[in-house]
Amino acid sequence: MISQSTIDSVFETARVEEVIGDFVNLKRAGSNYKGLSPFSDERSPSFMVSPAKGIWKDFSSGKGGNSVAFLMEHSHFTYPEAIRYLAKKYNIEIEETEQTDAEKAMTDVRESMYLVSEFAAKYFEDVMVNTEEGKAIGLSYFKERGFTAETIKKFNLGYSPETWDALTKEALGKGYKLEFLESTGLTIAREDRPFDRFKGRVMFPIHSMSGRVLGFGGRILTNDKKAAKYLNSPESDIYHKSKVLYGIYQAKQSIAKLNNCYLVEGYTDVIQFNQAGIENVVASSGTALTPDQIRLVNRLTKNITVLFDGDAAGLRASIRGIDLILEEGMNVRVCTFPDGDDPDSFARKNSHDALVAYLEENSKDFIQFKASILMNEAKNDPIKKADLIRDMVTSISKIPDRIQREVYIQECARIMDISEQVLVSTLAQLIQKDLADANKKQKQEQKPFDVVRNQPSKNANYSGGDPEDPRNGPPDDYPGDFGYPAEQEKVDILYGFERKIIEILLLYGSVEEDFEDVFLKADEEGNVKEISEKRRYRVYEKVYLSLQEDEVELSNTLFQNIYTNIIEFYNQNEAFSLDKYLMHLQPDFAQEVTNILMEDEKVNIHNWEGQNIFPKHKNETIEQNVSETIFSMRWFLVSKLIHELKNSLISDPQEDNSELLMMVVDYSKLLNNFSKKLGRVVVPYHGG
Ligand code: CTP
Ligand code: MN
Repeated sequence: MISQSTIDSVFETARVEEVIGDFVNLKRAGSNYKGLSPFSDERSPSFMVSPAKGIWKDFSSGKGGNSVAFLMEHSHFTYPEAIRYLAKKYNIEIEETEQTDAEKAMTDVRESMYLVSEFAAKYFEDVMVNTEEGKAIGLSYFKERGFTAETIKKFNLGYSPETWDALTKEALGKGYKLEFLESTGLTIAREDRPFDRFKGRVMFPIHSMSGRVLGFGGRILTNDKKAAKYLNSPESDIYHKSKVLYGIYQAKQSIAKLNNCYLVEGYTDVIQFNQAGIENVVASSGTALTPDQIRLVNRLTKNITVLFDGDAAGLRASIRGIDLILEEGMNVRVCTFPDGDDPDSFARKNSHDALVAYLEENSKDFIQFKASILMNEAKNDPIKKADLIRDMVTSISKIPDRIQREVYIQECARIMDISEQVLVSTLAQLIQKDLADANKKQKQEQKPFDVVRNQPSKNANYSGGDPEDPRNGPPDDYPGDFGYPAEQEKVDILYGFERKIIEILLLYGSVEEDFEDVFLKADEEGNVKEISEKRRYRVYEKVYLSLQEDEVELSNTLFQNIYTNIIEFYNQNEAFSLDKYLMHLQPDFAQEVTNILMEDEKVNIHNWEGQNIFPKHKNETIEQNVSETIFSMRWFLVSKLIHELKNSLISDPQEDNSELLMMVVDYSKLLNNFSKKLGRVVVPYHGG
């Protein structure tokens, strides 16, 4: 593990504009830098870097974060990979923390499983190159298949000896636990005689995107018809067959760079392609592609080319699975090989140049390919043809892009010799249905903030002001009821407050200010009296205490998590600095936090051409800003409570409502108090 002090000095040294400058052409823009987003095809720059804050924000995709987040997003590094990269760039020596035996035992189960898998991979590699048996059997097998020493090393290929417990014995001797040898499936335990799963096989380690060994494929070398040709690691806490793609670790750079990914069936197809100089290739390991696997590729490129073996048998079945890829918004091409060839054998027979040329000439757009294949089968069968049309249109309907869909409709009409009209109306039906489903889904996911931004509601303006100003009175479209807003806006307003709380914490959480502490006390007659007193607080303390006092949790889960995280950070770090916080920013918070911090820059982006920019009036003091936000939120929550109480009075009239009524009266008094504080006139509540 990399030591914390190394991580700290990496963060202290790295300059976000220098790190990003290696990948994106940045130009100065005021105190920031701007450039074209590396995450989308754009013509006018919407990518901003703030050296002062140490963060970046891509307004076209919403992504954002610190230097490490950029490397993880852009170069697909894992966190430790990004730290190592930066350490190298800035000549910082990496200090590793050595694990003691006790610590080794302490690391969690998954980590132990990774460690034993890594050990096994090294062991198999070592046995193959350094033992007589390994060289004579394993190495010579791979050599015979045409793999060079370099390729063998690149894929960490190995050999598991013909002894029944060779690996198990070696691992136990080195202090690895039987428990983890078993849970990874490397060892099969039977009556005190644990034995190796992969005895006498050549070994293909399966890596994660970041290069950790998750499991193995082992190929038998004899022609024993009864034994399976390939044996694979069983599903485990670290190996999920449906979530890995063989070769993704070795292929990721090349896939991103060439903006295309070849998909093949087997281990040897991947390796043979690499041997032939084509690196952007992964295998689904003999099964149909899963959505998780497609997403792995989708992180790197939108383009996938599926390579099919020469035998036509599996073709039809395989075609079905491809709709899944279309659904993820990817562009799919397919390429078949001559009869009897698979990608492995074809790559081996041909030179690099011939292979590249073949792939280029024979890769066809999937929709066209499917239409022509199926047309051949259905040529003289009207019923089959009707099925085929529905099938084709279903595929097309999966494509998210409208223009692309239309182009395909025209193409298909031509290939299948049928009017576009028929295809269009069938497509319309299907899309109608999909849209209805999608709408439902989007409604649930939509962020209320968007609504506020697009249609600023005058009721969302809680900024106080002159009580005599009619604009600050109760909005006239609300009949009494404390100006309590309509259902949709409730969420938006609360969202606004909660976001503001996060902004306050980020920008001036550690600032000390004098706050008026207000105590509300009720005398015997139930009159609420207010006692106030000035006291000095750090802003974050004031916010925390106020929310705690009212037992308020932020309703937006993400905000609540960020809130807890920031408060904890303030509590643990006497000298909170935004830089420090952003260094340790969790990836799942990065988008929202950078949204908040780069808000002003967004305005600059949109006024790029130098039109008038109206700066926000931030003439209030921090204390006013904080107090007002807290009071407004309280006001809002209490009026919400009253509203709900009143509703329950109406919807569920009890004989004795007195208790509920008392609560309404009490809360109304409280509310009036808040209103005074906020300098706002509200319609008083008149019982009944
Ligand atoms: N496979 C498997 N178990 C099997 C057979 C196949 O897991 N019993 C998977 C392997 O990932 C294999 C892929 O399916 O790589 C394709 O199978 P196949 O074409 O039979 O294997 P090849 O990779 O061509 O292997 P080889 O050339 O070594 O025979
Ligand atoms: Mn083969």
